[in-house]
Amino acid sequence: MMNDRFRTLLKSVAVASALASGLASAEVPDIGPLPPVPVNPDNTPTAARMALGQALFFDNRLSGTGNLNCSSCHLPDVGWTLPSAFSVANEGFVERRNPPTLINVGYNRALIWDGRAPSLEKQAIGSITNPVHKGQNLDKLVKILNDDPKFIALFQAAYNGKPNADDIGRALAVWQRHFLVTGESNFDRYVKGNMLALSEAAVRGMDIFKGKGGCIVCHNGPNFSDSGFYNIGLARNAQFDKPEYLKILVFDAKRMKLDNPEQATDDAGRYLVTKDKADWKKFKTPTLRNLADTAPYMHDGRYATLDAVIDHFNRGGDQVENQDPRIKPLGLSVTEKADLKAFLQSLWGPLPKLNLAE
Ligand code: HEC
Ligand code: HEC
Repeated sequence: MMNDRFRTLLKSVAVASALASGLASAEVPDIGPLPPVPVNPDNTPTAARMALGQALFFDNRLSGTGNLNCSSCHLPDVGWTLPSAFSVANEGFVERRNPPTLINVGYNRALIWDGRAPSLEKQAIGSITNPVHKGQNLDKLVKILNDDPKFIALFQAAYNGKPNADDIGRALAVWQRHFLVTGESNFDRYVKGNMLALSEAAVRGMDIFKGKGGCIVCHNGPNFSDSGFYNIGLARNAQFDKPEYLKILVFDAKRMKLDNPEQATDDAGRYLVTKDKADWKKFKTPTLRNLADTAPYMHDGRYATLDAVIDHFNRGGDQVENQDPRIKPLGLSVTEKADLKAFLQSLWGPLPKLNLAE
């Protein structure tokens, strides 16, 4: 067990080294094991709610065409995301982003790459009605579920009523929040006192993460995300020159009520939500747990490997408009890059086994 003094010491070391490299100006929360996932008091988990949420997650009738369910784009075997750079989309559309992993999603305070969704409950409904994703009419879905004895019984047991829109969102949220939680990683075992759980390379990598690399400035707290938004210097994606991508960019700019949406030629990120120039192309800090499962990386899946991600940060990004000043060349050696990668790999933890049998 780590006593409080040691914990405080570790924390101040992390902050001091981040400060030394000129990266942090305020105190940064330390990385560490995951606490129990925060409960929504209006949607506490019960076995019946979890069963309903899982049944909905895998049901194709959640989409207008009947061809897609949540797992079509958040594949259980591929880290609850997709192995392609861009997500698949509903018929007639292409997607311009990579699905964020749903692993440990209950710890996220920011949802969607630009933070447009206020809660997991609301996000689930948004995903069903979004024409780009499932394009389903909510009234129609409620009617379908009210014609299905299996779902009538599941809703009754879970929320004491007939199938309805609010409880569809609540069930999907409660299941994601409380099922998709990782168990101990080697990193967790190490910080809990098992000094053999990490290789020497990974321990050196942790020092780089907290110090020379400055990664902890944004990837902090137990889920390695501060739920903040940053422009980390990713150059405009060349795919966006293709007409089908320009079409989705304009479509989304209209939906988010930007001025002159027809002129959209790039994914504006957080700016789409706030309309504040300071937020131009900022995206949310993703978790770093289970990276081995969730490639490719970044909001547009542009990097296939962790080496490519580390090279991005090491070269100080692509030097773009509004780039965060803390993303600057790091001067990491080949060994330091390998150490940092070993540390990132130590953050993998097992997920509970998915049982799809009735
Ligand atoms: C057609 C593909 C597709 C389907 C189907 C889909 N998603 Fe997604 N999901 C995405 C993409 C792409 C994003 C990122 C969207 C963005 O940033 O604009 C996303 C984002 C999310 C997020 C935000 C996660 C985070 O940490 O920011 C959650 C939660 C989520 N989806 C849950 C669901 C649920 C629940 C369903 C079923 C009701 C679902 N998704 C169906 C593609 C899909
Ligand atoms: C200024 C804040 C900030 C700093 C510093 C930072 N990151 Fe990130 N990181 C982000 C954001 C934001 C993203 C997502 C960017 C996007 O997709 O547009 C990201 C993405 C990533 C990803 C991809 C994860 C995924 O699932 O797509 C990895 C891996 C990563 N960072 C590792 C690191 C490492 C290692 C360092 C230190 C060398 C670091 N980051 C420093 C904010 C930061």
